[in-house]
Amino acid sequence: MVAAYDDRDGVIWMDGAFVPWRDAKVHVLTHALHYASSVFEGERAYGGVIFKSREHTERLLKSCDYIDIPHPFSVEEIEAAKAAALRESGLSDAYVRPVVWRGSGPDMGVASARNPVHMAIAVWEWGAYYGDAKLKGAKLDISKWKRPSPETIPCFAKAAGLYMICTMSKHVAEAKGCSDAIMMDYRGYVAEATGANVFFVRDGKVHTPKPDCFLNGITRQTVLQMLKERGVEVIERHIEPGEMEGFEQCWLTGTAAEVTPVGSIGEFSFEVGALTRSIAGDYEKLVRGQLAAA
Ligand SMILES: Cc1ncc(COP(=O)(O)O)c(C=O)c1O
Repeated sequence: MVAAYDDRDGVIWMDGAFVPWRDAKVHVLTHALHYASSVFEGERAYGGVIFKSREHTERLLKSCDYIDIPHPFSVEEIEAAKAAALRESGLSDAYVRPVVWRGSGPDMGVASARNPVHMAIAVWEWGAYYGDAKLKGAKLDISKWKRPSPETIPCFAKAAGLYMICTMSKHVAEAKGCSDAIMMDYRGYVAEATGANVFFVRDGKVHTPKPDCFLNGITRQTVLQMLKERGVEVIERHIEPGEMEGFEQCWLTGTAAEVTPVGSIGEFSFEVGALTRSIAGDYEKLVRGQLAAA
């Protein structure tokens, strides 16, 4: 039985100071709890170093801009706080979760400009996101929910509100025995999984959805650079769901997912092929500083 996330030993960085893990609480009238006025990051440390830490911090503050939350701290302050939180955790391989939210204050309606902004950083141990899928290939469902248009929601923010349909998609997927679900976008093109980007391989070329209405993940960009350095042709484009029939290999990328091979998406099957295995292996080396920077 996994210990509940609010019932653990250790400390959590909150608004500039460390508090005992179990005391890192918010009030029930916290604006974010009612209206999703919250943004966050997901990062991984390997051997005591957070991979692409500054890029994550910059994205966190960009997410604040997208959803109209003033920056609670500067990039430098957040970098120092994350490093301190990692140190305090005593872990060297860890998951790092910074979160920024609108707290409780004079506003309890939709507008919340007068409510204070808070920030916390928690660090914990988190193994493979998809269990043993790294070897066998993950089994994915196809979600009924669509990634929304950029005119509907600030879709490039890593904001809590965007995850409502991800949680619902993943619950349905898990009930069917799948690890996750692929979501189409509002136009019907293949978009991404609920917390990871997707890549396909056909005839030695890599095809990946153009990130024009979802997160262009930091892992995605890292893998694109790795493919470029190997001279593999990559085509970023709109992909119709029916095209998945002709793809030979597939993998997911994300900070939590790292590079996870995919065995099936709905009725479409893929092999855990050589390119998938080699990119997954090289990513593992790269994050541990055992490969030249991508
Ligand atoms: C919806 C979604 N897409 C893609 C990603 C991959 O992003 P990254 O590689 O920056 O972790 C994530 C994870 O953060 C995500 O939650």
